Amino acid sequence: MTTDTDAGNAAEQDAFDALIAAEQRIEPRDWMPDAYRRTLIRQISQHAHSEIIGMQPEGNWITRAPSLKRKAILMAKVQDEAGHGLYLYSAAQTLGIGRDEMTEQLIAGRAKYSSIFNYPTPTWADMGAIGWLVDGAAICNQVPLCRASYGPYGRAMVRICKEESFHQRQGFEILLALMQGSPAQREMAQDAVDRWYWPSLMMFGPPDDRSPNSAQSMAWKIKRFSNDELRQRFIGMLVPQAEVLGVSLPDPELRWDAGAGRWHMSEIDWTEFHEVLAGRGPMNSERLRARREAHEGGAWVREAAAEYARKRALRRPAVAEAFEGAA
Ligand SMILES: [Fe+2]
Ligand SMILES: [Fe+2]
Repeated sequence: MTTDTDAGNAAEQDAFDALIAAEQRIEPRDWMPDAYRRTLIRQISQHAHSEIIGMQPEGNWITRAPSLKRKAILMAKVQDEAGHGLYLYSAAQTLGIGRDEMTEQLIAGRAKYSSIFNYPTPTWADMGAIGWLVDGAAICNQVPLCRASYGPYGRAMVRICKEESFHQRQGFEILLALMQGSPAQREMAQDAVDRWYWPSLMMFGPPDDRSPNSAQSMAWKIKRFSNDELRQRFIGMLVPQAEVLGVSLPDPELRWDAGAGRWHMSEIDWTEFHEVLAGRGPMNSERLRARREAHEGGAWVREAAAEYARKRALRRPAVAEAFEGAA
């Protein structure tokens, strides 16, 4: 792993800056400032953890999905999230951190993941609201990340975004079916939208004037738009879709302010956001407990896979030599 030793690396720093300025990609083989590497490791691993923890609120409904078709779709969706976690862990590994280390940080409660997954999913309509709002917010956040300056991260995001748009549509379609159903079904859909709307707006992070790391991330071209810009864009996407669905968005202040050219909205309750982020959300300890149990329960699978890989390698003499050399 390269490290920056200030003066000696002036030429490397210049080369790095030139690549960024020219909209070129930084690749794992390239020199990069330590702070850039650390920021990426933190961001990509948090993102990977969010995908993995994010399987839980929906995985919870696979056995109770209302039809075989819904069950198959939900299983595919949850499986996609596992895949997203894997691409992102692989991208983080190119920066010099091990997968075991990241997993350890997650199950020990030392790593962050998106606070949205610490809310409960009491009804089937939550599957609709999560797909429409949570995956919808994820798309707004992630489409610009396809152009992130770090190559492996940007490339992982391309495939992830294609799958996220399927997720958003399946959520929309669940809500649409409920909104065309009985009064009780419509009420269930509206209730889920009411519960997920504000947390989904919080997914874009604090307002720009309280987001100290944003400027550096934008200068490094990891982040392309500010938190508030992305939140505005998301609301602009939701409003016409809410009309088609026939649901109302739970903000009496929400309206287009033509003069300012932006959506006017109520103040977000950031106290709640910080409580959930600090591990005091409704489901934090349950999510970590389930993750820890799954990790321990899967130990035999990891052992078997490692042994299988070792035996396969031994069948190829050149690789066998390398194994013996290392032993
Ligand atoms: Fe995902
Ligand atoms: Fe998703």
